[in-house]
Order: sequence, then C-alpha cells, then structure tokens
Amino acid sequence: MSSSPGIDLSNIDLLANTWSREAPHDQFDLLRKSAPVFWHDEPNGSGFWAITKHADVKKISRDPRTFSSALGSTFIPDQDEETLMMLRLSVLNMDDPQHTRYRNIVAKGFTPRVIAKLVEDTNARAARVVDEVVARGECEFVNDIASKVPIQTICTMLGLDDELWPRMVELTNMMISGLDAEGQGAGQIAAMEVYALCDQMAAARRAEPRDDIMTALVNAEVDGERLDDGELNMFFITLIVAGNETTRNLINHSMLALIDNPGEADRLRADESLWPTAVEEMLRYGTSIANFRRTATTDVELRGTKIKAGDKVVMYYASANRDEEVFADPHRFDVSRRPNDHVTFGGGGVHFCLGASLAKAQIRATMQEVVQRLGNPQLAAPITRLKSDFVNGVTHMPITFTQRNG
Ligand code: HEM
Repeated sequence: MSSSPGIDLSNIDLLANTWSREAPHDQFDLLRKSAPVFWHDEPNGSGFWAITKHADVKKISRDPRTFSSALGSTFIPDQDEETLMMLRLSVLNMDDPQHTRYRNIVAKGFTPRVIAKLVEDTNARAARVVDEVVARGECEFVNDIASKVPIQTICTMLGLDDELWPRMVELTNMMISGLDAEGQGAGQIAAMEVYALCDQMAAARRAEPRDDIMTALVNAEVDGERLDDGELNMFFITLIVAGNETTRNLINHSMLALIDNPGEADRLRADESLWPTAVEEMLRYGTSIANFRRTATTDVELRGTKIKAGDKVVMYYASANRDEEVFADPHRFDVSRRPNDHVTFGGGGVHFCLGASLAKAQIRATMQEVVQRLGNPQLAAPITRLKSDFVNGVTHMPITFTQRNG
C-alpha cells in the first residue's frame, strides 16, 4: 500500500455493508488524497487493489492486455472455475480475440436504426409512466417510475411479447434482489426462468425470424459456429442486467439529486437547453455501477506501487467521478457542468458501454417528465439502499409531490 504518513486508513471499508448505508464518498476522498492505489482486505483472506483516481481508471480500462476482464471476471468476489466458465460466456468477462468477435455480435442489437427506434418510443413511454402516478401526489419512486422505462425498453429490444413484460419485471426484480447479499437464492431461481424463456424465444425465432436482436443472435456465427443455448442465455442475462438496473438506479440517484438541489430543477424548467449537460451530470453524480474489476496478467507498477500478476484491481468509477483533479467542486450537482469527462460508462477502451446512448435517452426522457410534472418532490420516508458494493442501488424511495401542468 502507498499511503501518506500519519493518515489513518484502518477504517476503510468499501464492501457491501458500507454501501447499504451510503455511498462511501468520504472514504474515496481520503483514498484519492492519501492512497490512490490501496490494498483492500476481504474477509475471506483475499484482497484487491482499490483504484480511486480518474487517470488510473482510464489507464487500466485502456490496457486490456495487462488488466484482464476474463481471468477472474469483472466482479470482485473470487469465483470457482465452474462459475468463471459461465461468467466468461458474457462479453463483459471476455478478453481478445474472443471479446471482439462477440462484441461485434452483440453490437448487432445496437445499430443506429434499432437505437433510433427505441429512443423514439422512449419519450412516449416516460410520459405514460408519469401519467399513471401524477394525480396521486405520492409514489414509491423506484417501482412506480425509475424501473419502468428501462425494463420496457429492454423487453422491446429483445423482442419479448408485451404479455411477458409483467413477469419480466418480477423476474428482474428477483434477479436484482439476488445482487443483494441477502437475496441470492431468489436471484438464481429467477435466472433459471429467464434461461427457459430465452430458450423458447430462440426456438421461436429460428422457426420464424423477426427484426429483433434475438433473431440476429440465433443467426450469428462465431468462427463458423452458431451460438449455443448457454451462450444465448448469457447474452440475454447480460442485456437484462446491464440494461436494467444500471439505468433504473441512475434515475433513482437523479431524483435524489434534484430533491436535494431543488434550484437545479428550477434551472432546468427555465432553460430546456440545459438538458444535455444535465444528463451528463446526472450520470457523473449518480454513478450506478460503482466499479468493475480487472486481474493483472503480469507484474506492473502504478503510482510507484507494485501490483503482482494475478492481483485483483478494482476501478472505482464512483470515486473517479468525484476526482478533484478533474472536476471542480466535485460533490456539487451542477446541471450546466462542462466539461464533464465522467467514467460512468467505463474508462474507455474495448469494453466501453454499448448501451450508453440508449441509457442517456431513457434518463433524459424520464427525468424531463419528472421535472416538468412533479412539483416540489420530497422524500416521504428514508430511502433503503441495495446491499451491494457493485450496483450503487436504491431499493425503496417513497416520495410526495404536487401536480404540475408540464
Ligand atoms: C446508466 C446506465 C448504464 C451504466 C452506468 C452502464 C455502465 C457500464 C460500464 C461501466 C460498462 C463497462 C464494463 C467494463 O469496462 O468492464 C458497461 C458495459 C456494457 N454495457 Fe452498460 N451501462 C448502462 C446502460 C446500459 C444499457 C441500457 C445497456 C443495454 C441495453 C448496456 C449494455 C452494456 C453491455 C452489453 C456492456 C459490455 C460491453 C463489453 O464488455 O464490450 N449498458 N456498461
């Protein structure tokens, strides 16, 4: 560990219990200042390097040869070989040359034409979601608003028929509770049902092709071979997890930021041209994916600290996005912030988020409806947070508001 003398870092704890109470920005502030490459112990005797500076997150993200996504996967916990093999069916947990081949296939679901169509539907979806609650003067923001647009968008993208949506909402909620350290069994059962659904859809699209991502996937070939059911399942799950609660929680944190900073909502109502910078600021401030992990493939030195081959290296986007060397007054929520070089979608490089433009469109559509139509939003009770050090999540957020005439 490289730390400044005289600074006590014995209380640093970036694991799930801490995140269930709050996002540990005070700890990140301390680490960036005194130990930007910090050895963090884990209860099982393992440990990882916690990387908290913006420049280092970018450097690591752009050097996949030295910092592998496949070796130990992109998640912090150590996995057994069987689980690793399953995780490596997802693009997130692949290295080249396999990564490029699979990413090209997944990218077939993200063509400008597909995205433009989804974005077009997004505004109408967001308006409908807010229509359903606006007259009530209160709602549970997470389930009633934040979760709706992302799940509907993903279901449409995957080509799931409308009547399956309510069950998908239930299943994704169960899978997300599986991210919570206390809900893992439910998460696995839900994943099994999603796999079965995926198998049925794949069979249906093989028999009767449509213009959707599932048809593209069942016809895609890697090295002359069609994807098997296990690979298709992993795509399905990757998109559902990557596209859903990332966006949902970003919307949750944006709501919280506006409750805490009502003046910023006033600015947005007064000047629509602020929306593009506002969405970037919501992304920076909310950072719904707290980190991704890499594993060093070789001995390497970072800021004078020796990292050994095989060591886990965890990039904290949540910290990099508050790095005072890059962002002036980083803990301030400022809808006109510019420049805003946040790393919420990753630090650049080959794994950069495929859904970034789709996520931005959903955040903008939803938050624009919220700002225009929900007046004076207030928390009706304290929020509950997800017990996860990976997804920076909110599970429950009761709010009250007045009805505004958009
Ligand atoms: C606010 C919302 C979102 C956030 C914060 C987010 C964050 C991220 C991050 C940090 C990565 C980089 C992973 C790495 O470097 O290891 C990533 C990758 C990815 N994201 Fe997103 N994402 C969001 C929305 C979406 C959406 C809506 C979709 C799909 C519909 C999506 C699909 C993906 C996929 C497929 C990858 C893997 C790319 C690869 O490994 O090559 N994401 N995302």
